Amino acid sequence: MLVKIDLDRRLGMIDRNTHGMFIEHLGRCIYGGIYEPDSKLSDELGFRRDVLEAARRLRAPILRWPGGNFVSNYHWLDGVGPKEKRPVRPELAWDTIETNQFGTNEFIQYCRTLDTEPYICANLGSGTMDEAAAWVEYCNRDDGTSYAKLRAEHGFEAPHNVTYWGLGNEMYGNWQIGHKPAEEYAKFARECAKLMKANDRSIKLVLCGGQVLGHDTAAFLDWNVTALQKCADLVDYIAYHFYWGPVDGQDAHYSTLAKPYQSEQHLQFLWHLIEQVRRDRRVKHPIRIALDEWNVWYRVHDNQLEERYDLTDALAVAIYLNMMRRNCQAIGMANLAQMVNVIAPIFTSPEGMFLQTIYHPLRLAAEKSGSTALDVHVECDTYPADYVGLPAVRYLDALATLDESETKLYVSLVNLSKQKRAEVELLIQEAEVKSGRAHVVTGRAPDTYNDFGRERVTCRTEGIPASGSRLTYWLPPHAHAVLEFDLR
Ligand code: AHR
Repeated sequence: MLVKIDLDRRLGMIDRNTHGMFIEHLGRCIYGGIYEPDSKLSDELGFRRDVLEAARRLRAPILRWPGGNFVSNYHWLDGVGPKEKRPVRPELAWDTIETNQFGTNEFIQYCRTLDTEPYICANLGSGTMDEAAAWVEYCNRDDGTSYAKLRAEHGFEAPHNVTYWGLGNEMYGNWQIGHKPAEEYAKFARECAKLMKANDRSIKLVLCGGQVLGHDTAAFLDWNVTALQKCADLVDYIAYHFYWGPVDGQDAHYSTLAKPYQSEQHLQFLWHLIEQVRRDRRVKHPIRIALDEWNVWYRVHDNQLEERYDLTDALAVAIYLNMMRRNCQAIGMANLAQMVNVIAPIFTSPEGMFLQTIYHPLRLAAEKSGSTALDVHVECDTYPADYVGLPAVRYLDALATLDESETKLYVSLVNLSKQKRAEVELLIQEAEVKSGRAHVVTGRAPDTYNDFGRERVTCRTEGIPASGSRLTYWLPPHAHAVLEFDLR
């Protein structure tokens, strides 16, 4: 297998916000995940310390909240003010009960503790435009208006200065509370955007984009064109969601690993569309894709979504992370759904936690990646994947990034093969390697998974004899490795 990297062939800058996370009021993500005030494992604000520590290593620069489907029946005023006075409500999206003990101010405190930017998705389902605008007023205004005063009365004198705001969640889907046809959504989103921005001109807005459901690319196109044409002048991002698992009737491992490339096709399609609408409407500012929900998810569909991940899933996540960074021009933000317990890399019990398999590629992408993506040429065997609309998928996925000082090169590799070691011949042009190490994520078999006290899929670091501009690296079967090179 040949991997050619040329330091002069640059794809663009990777936005740090592509390492974002998402938390929703769903199952044990918030209550019993990040927030457990009665636990001895929590700090004085009720935040689980062990979860914070694991989350910190994922270095998420941005955190999306409060949903997801939940937000489409969430009224933010229920979640502010004295906790004992907050209403307990039926939660209709996931058919549970919402105590409102964790609300806007707790979310902001969590973001400050984790050192991450808040990204709030507004309720464009059962909510009104006044309510969306008032939320911005409550969080960001500092000029004595009633909601700014209310925030101060609640103990937060200084404004929260929330920059990122979503204009609803998955409004195209009939499962969404307040689901709307594209025209209706676009009109409503535009009016909400105007009012929200009138409260704070500096906010950045994420328009709700479509999702390819089944193979319905036409509906995806329709929704996105309608929403963008109406709102492009007011928004900075358009959202896209992608969840995947094996394809029915196909090999579970190989089809799970083929799906990220299908998503890549959607993203490139959406990117061209955005650019076309910007040209047509003479929109000067950039609009990029916010991949604000993505993950492997196919096993559980109850109201807990406690998916247990195996090694195949970790490799799929590694491929997806490579794919996002390769498409860095188009993708301005991404939020893994979700951070804790609910389809998540961190899994807790009242007594402790463990790291799921998918945690490791996420941590590596956050810690061991440069800011510039390089164009990589890969030659290797392939397998057919017409079930995802692709003639073939390569057994090796590769991404190279260069750090800001241009003294470190990272090569993120995934060997998709279940059986074969990959002999990777690396040819580096316009640079020479001085030393290197490999951070390797693998396990006994593709279906190996982690559990409390039994973390079988982990990440090990080993030195690699590396020097010059041509070297060979042996990657085990079903493995992901990030090669970290110091350049001369
Ligand atoms: O992340 C789980 C759910 O998936 C979210 O609530 C929703 O937006 C999506 O359908």
